[in-house]
Order: sequence, then C-alpha cells, then structure tokens
Amino acid sequence: MKKILLLGNTGQLGWEAQRVLGCLGELVSLDYPDVDFTQPESLRSLVAKVKPSIIYNAAAYTAVDRAESDWERCRMINVEAPMVLAEEARKQRAVFVHISTDYVFDGKKGSVYSEEDAANPLSAYGRSKLESEQAVAAAGGCWFTFRTSWVFSDRRDSFVSKVLEWAGKNPTLRIVDDQISGPTWARALAEATGMVLAQGGKEPYEVLLERSGLYHLAGWRWCSRKEWAEEILRLDPHPELRQAKEIIGAKTAEFPTPAERPLFSALECGKFERVFGLRLPDWKEGVRLAMGG
Ligand SMILES: NC(=O)c1ccc[n+]([C@@H]2O[C@H](COP(=O)([O-])OP(=O)(O)OC[C@H]3O[C@@H](n4cnc5c(N)ncnc54)[C@H](OP(=O)(O)O)[C@@H]3O)[C@@H](O)[C@H]2O)c1
Repeated sequence: MKKILLLGNTGQLGWEAQRVLGCLGELVSLDYPDVDFTQPESLRSLVAKVKPSIIYNAAAYTAVDRAESDWERCRMINVEAPMVLAEEARKQRAVFVHISTDYVFDGKKGSVYSEEDAANPLSAYGRSKLESEQAVAAAGGCWFTFRTSWVFSDRRDSFVSKVLEWAGKNPTLRIVDDQISGPTWARALAEATGMVLAQGGKEPYEVLLERSGLYHLAGWRWCSRKEWAEEILRLDPHPELRQAKEIIGAKTAEFPTPAERPLFSALECGKFERVFGLRLPDWKEGVRLAMGG
C-alpha cells in the first residue's frame, strides 16, 4: 500500500485533499503546530520516518498583505520548507506536489497567462511563491507545481463567506470589477490533483516522471471580483437574511492594501487538460456546487 504524506491538512485545499488522497493509499496528514515549516530542517527526519511515495504540500503562508512586513517567515514557509520537501522527495523517489499562484504574474499582459509567460510578481507573497516554484524545479525528481487562483471553500473565511457576511450587514456592496481571475473551488482542485496521482498507479514516481513539471490549474474561464460576488448572491441559500440590494463596481485603486495584486491574472489551463485528460469545472459550476446549489 502506498504511503502519502499530506502537509497543511486543515487549510482550504488540504482539508479537501485529505478526502481524496485517503482513497489512494495510507495517508499521514499533518499541520501546524505538529509540523512547522519555519523549521525546514525538521522536515527531513519527518520524511525519512514516514517514507512516503507521495508528498502533497498544501501548507503555505497565504496572508498576502501581512507577507509585505513579514518576509522572513513568509519565505521560510513558502520557499525553504518546500525546497527541503522537494529534495527529500527526490532522494526517496517520492512524487512531490506543490501549489503556486497566479500572483506570480503582474497582470499587465492583457490576456490569459500560459506556463510559458514570464512571471513578474508584484507582492512579497507572489515573490515567495515564484521562488518556491524555482526551488522545487531545481530539486529535480518527479514533481508537480500546480499554479492556481482565487481558491475558495466553505471551510475557512474565503471570498464567498466574506461576500455573504458583507451582504448581511450592508444595503449596498462595492466590489472591484478590475481584478480578474479564475475562482477555484478547493474541492475540485483537490480532486483533479488526486486524479493525476491516481494515474500513477502503484509506481507513481516512475509512471508520472515524464509528465513532471509546472501546470496551470484553475476554475475554467475567468471573471471579475464583482461578477463573482453577483454569482454568490444569486446562489445565496438565505436571501431573506440579506440587507444588500445591489452591488456597485469599484476600482482596486480605491481600496489601498499593503500588497499590490495583479489586475488580470487568469490562467490558461490547456496544458493540464492535454497531458492528463482532465480539467476543472467552469468557475460558476464550482461556486454552485460549493454553495450546495
Ligand atoms: N487561497 C487562495 O486564494 C490561493 C490562490 C492561489 C494559490 N493558493 C495556494 O494554494 C495553496 C493552498 O492554499 P489555501 O487557500 O488552502 O491555504 P490556507 O487555507 O491558508 O492553508 C494553509 C495551511 O498552511 C498551514 N501553515 C501555515 N503556516 C504553517 C507553518 N509554519 N507550518 C506548517 N503549516 C503551516 C496553515 O495552518 P494554520 O491555519 O494553522 O496557519 C494552513 O493549514 C497554497 O500553496 C497557496 O499559496 C491559494
């Protein structure tokens, strides 16, 4: 029976990943503080002890604004720890799964980004994730970095829960219509990545080695934050509790934040579809399923 080491299992993606990965083998799931990515060297003995065939890294420093003033911690968690995990994975001939972000792009291209496009992160978080991608690739072995965007779930505070909360308190919502990307349901992302690993059968490292690499994987097509919010309210299971009567478009520049975000960072996911014969559902379908519609 294959052993799978999942890190970050209480996060949005990790929570969903443990449901999927549990079907593929014997799962060892850990999260902070039982595993601490600020102590990257401690991960070497963990991997040696568990001896997994697959390491799935769903842990990350995801506080995009806080990262601007907390670079050392952010880098330790997002770069140093994945680098150690990727190295240990290669030594043990384990497949390494890592997740990155559309925030590695500056959003100035004006059309969807493919894996071939040059990255140019605008934020500390984006820089750390780009560095992690490079570190994972440099470690070699059989690795997958899946770049995704606008992850949501009902597990933690996400854009979906925030929109419902704001709508419960305010008659009018002002949501930016100039930030555009692909909302990605954490469960769909976990399932698609799990299906990739399932294609590896009993020998995932050997079987998947040739397809190792960087892939874009996000909710299909894209929308603005405002369109996303409109869809959330359309599917709101409790419209009777709502104060909000309308959503008005606003501009990112009206809401200054410590971290700059790309304006158009939608990901083109054709490579993933061609190589694995899989795709994520349309973002609207993801929102509908996540909201129990
Ligand atoms: N959320 C998005 O919109 C988005 C978009 C694009 C890409 N991504 C990427 O997708 C992946 C999953 O994101 P997510 O939204 O599922 O993240 P999340 O919900 O914030 O989960 C991250 C997990 O990492 C854990 N973690 C934080 N610091 C740690 C440490 N020092 N040691 C060990 N674990 C630690 C967290 O534990 P605590 O809760 O205890 O801190 C949490 O369980 C990440 O790589 C992220 O960069 C996310």
